[in-house]
Amino acid sequence: MQRTLVLLKPDCIQRRLVGTLIQRFEQKGLRLVAMKFLQASRDLAEKHYAVHKGKPFYESLLSFLTSGPTVAIVWEGREAVSVVREMMGKTDGAKSPPGTIRGDYGISVQNNLIHGSDSPENAAAEVSLWFAPADLVCHQPTDAAWIG
Ligand code: RTP
Ligand code: MG
Repeated sequence: MQRTLVLLKPDCIQRRLVGTLIQRFEQKGLRLVAMKFLQASRDLAEKHYAVHKGKPFYESLLSFLTSGPTVAIVWEGREAVSVVREMMGKTDGAKSPPGTIRGDYGISVQNNLIHGSDSPENAAAEVSLWFAPADLVCHQPTDAAWIG
């Protein structure tokens, strides 16, 4: 089973879309491993988006991610990384097809509601950045045999 990190970004909280987005992932068949509500620090945001340091949108991106609270979630499931990325849609909400999260709820490039890890390797690093090992709850949902 693969794990991935999802962030429901500050615009998602402000727009009261937290429940709607969590429901999509639950209904897809992903299972919760960890979840928390927090105000990201500048240091955490810098580490999370270190790959974008130096890009024109970097400072604005950090301001956005630290502008209000975030929900951080670890989801687990078969091919969880690519499943979540497909469900998110493209970075730019205006270019994201209907049926995707960014396509259905966003039109901005920056304020695009959600982050998802883009590879299993980055997922492992991001899960460790946002959560302590003791936060990760291993469990076997009773419907696991049906979900696959
Ligand atoms: P994420 O990392 O948040 O899952 O998003 P992503 O892979 O789709 O996009 P990425 O290229 O990694 O960019 C990270 C976040 O930076 C903001 N962004 N702004 N103004 C711009 O041109 C621009 N480009 C990217 C978005 O919030 C994007 O999700
Ligand atoms: Mg990215």
